Amino acid sequence: MNLQFPTNLKHEQARAWIEEMVALCQPENVHFCDGTPAENDRLNQKLVDSGTFIKLNEELRPNSFLCRSDPSDVARVEDRTFICSVNKEDAGPTNNWEDPKVMHARLNELFAGSMKGRTMYVIPFSMGPLGSPIAQLGIEITDSAYVVVNMSIMARTGSAVWDVLGTDGAYVPCLHSIGAPLQPGEKDIPWPCNPTVKYIVHFPEERAIWSYGSGYGGNALLGKKCLALRIASKIARDEGWMAEHMLILGVESPAGEKSYVAAAFPSACGKTNFAMLIPPAEMSDWKVTTIGDDIAWLKPNDKGELYAINPETGFFGVAPGTSSDTNPNAIESCAKNSIFTNVALTPDGDVWWEGLTKEAPPSLIDWQGNEWTPDCGRVAAHPNARFTAPASQCPVIDDQWENPAGVPIKAIIFGGRRNSTVPLVYQSFNWIYGVYVGATLGSETTAAAMGATGQVRRDPMAMIPFAGYHMADYFNHWLHVGRSIANVPPIFSVNWFRKDDNGKFLWPGFGDNMRVLEWIVKRASGEANAYETPIGWMPNYEDLTWDGLDFSEEQFAEVMTVDAAKWKTELVSHEELFVKLYDRMPKQLIDVRSLLLSSLA
Ligand code: OXD
Ligand code: MN
Repeated sequence: MNLQFPTNLKHEQARAWIEEMVALCQPENVHFCDGTPAENDRLNQKLVDSGTFIKLNEELRPNSFLCRSDPSDVARVEDRTFICSVNKEDAGPTNNWEDPKVMHARLNELFAGSMKGRTMYVIPFSMGPLGSPIAQLGIEITDSAYVVVNMSIMARTGSAVWDVLGTDGAYVPCLHSIGAPLQPGEKDIPWPCNPTVKYIVHFPEERAIWSYGSGYGGNALLGKKCLALRIASKIARDEGWMAEHMLILGVESPAGEKSYVAAAFPSACGKTNFAMLIPPAEMSDWKVTTIGDDIAWLKPNDKGELYAINPETGFFGVAPGTSSDTNPNAIESCAKNSIFTNVALTPDGDVWWEGLTKEAPPSLIDWQGNEWTPDCGRVAAHPNARFTAPASQCPVIDDQWENPAGVPIKAIIFGGRRNSTVPLVYQSFNWIYGVYVGATLGSETTAAAMGATGQVRRDPMAMIPFAGYHMADYFNHWLHVGRSIANVPPIFSVNWFRKDDNGKFLWPGFGDNMRVLEWIVKRASGEANAYETPIGWMPNYEDLTWDGLDFSEEQFAEVMTVDAAKWKTELVSHEELFVKLYDRMPKQLIDVRSLLLSSLA
């Protein structure tokens, strides 16, 4: 095929790679994405014409679309996700591994002719502001127009990227195919994918990504989890920075003092809600602004301070549970120019999902395209249904969110979904202990992780599905960063999800999390009190603001309880993870565990 390269794509190696992929995948034609609104409009229309998209009511939801995926293709597929490092040991026991030579051979077979009858799209993209010293470039080749229009919301895509790439810039090659070639004359279906064969593969040494068989979210929008976390975590380790599964928010005090906080929570712990938190009315002189809701890249500057960017430009948020009560800023963010995947359709051409309104509409079309009524016994939206919305539409987007230098991180938070044991908030004694707190983060599993629900899954730094190398080396890297920079931020643990013996949440959460956040940023500035416990520094009742919330000292004591017996059980389960990682486990963390055990005795 005679390729018409964009004139500003001057990178010979990238041209050669694209040519090679065309020869392998054998698409019917090739489209180089220019990232213009006109291109986006054309692709959205094409997706409507092919039945993949339903255009939503222009008055209610301007320039927005509903998409229903194949019921077999609704979430990330962790069991089909591979880290193919040259040495198996470098992927570690928490990742699936295959010999890169074997995997390349397998993928070459799968990708051969995989785009027959389809258009191959070439998407140049930047994770991070174009030209930022913290940004990374990628080129995603895909046979899915759905991927193109989602990527154009989630990343900086388009022609200008070729200029930044220049003749010899570094980029991450990302090849994606839904794995559903069309035979001549074969009619396409709304969500083609490969129902039986899926591979989400990372080659960390080559810094390359090959994804086959799925069109959904993190499996297919390769800038997100694949590049910005798995490959970037490896690049970050090589270069001395950190790629983390963290939101970044700004907090402005009534005195106008601004702090930025990065927070890691496992999937489905309300990261988007926390990133866009609205303080309770009585604390409205505090302001929270959003830099990002999912991924943070943190780099030490030359003064030894950690600066962070959000490499993304959009939110790929879980829709169910999002409402004008729980997260009005997210609702506002997806009010227009958004894509909704696997939510329900209302009779007037808008979207609905569980939790959007207190009462469900009397009739809907569910996420699989079937008639739905509130008493039918099925959910209307898939639990992992998503909105893809431009970050620029978030009413509280921080004015520094596109600053190429990033924002200074004042505190780091780790939080999971824990029924019991873990108190509402505590501060780690120092960086090494903070790394321990992150390394032993646990959360009850939910739909996004596709595990059995309700079990505690150890999810170190919320990175278990996303670290591109051995988890213990990753802990070592955290320790290394702590040693190598002058000003490490303090590390905190939070748990919004603790329950009483009757299964009732002990903490109201959402906007009231501002009360905890206030204490955290004040502690980070050396302005708040705390007392010492065996597991860390904790606020007294009077150290938090209670205006507007009826929350007694007894209730606070309950949500803050450190039960020594439960903590000993907890520490035993930490050991399970450490044993799994034993050969590379940093000794400092093992020592922290011993110290904790003796101080709890
Ligand atoms: C996500 C996840 O989709 O973490 O952000 O699963
Ligand atoms: Mn995430």
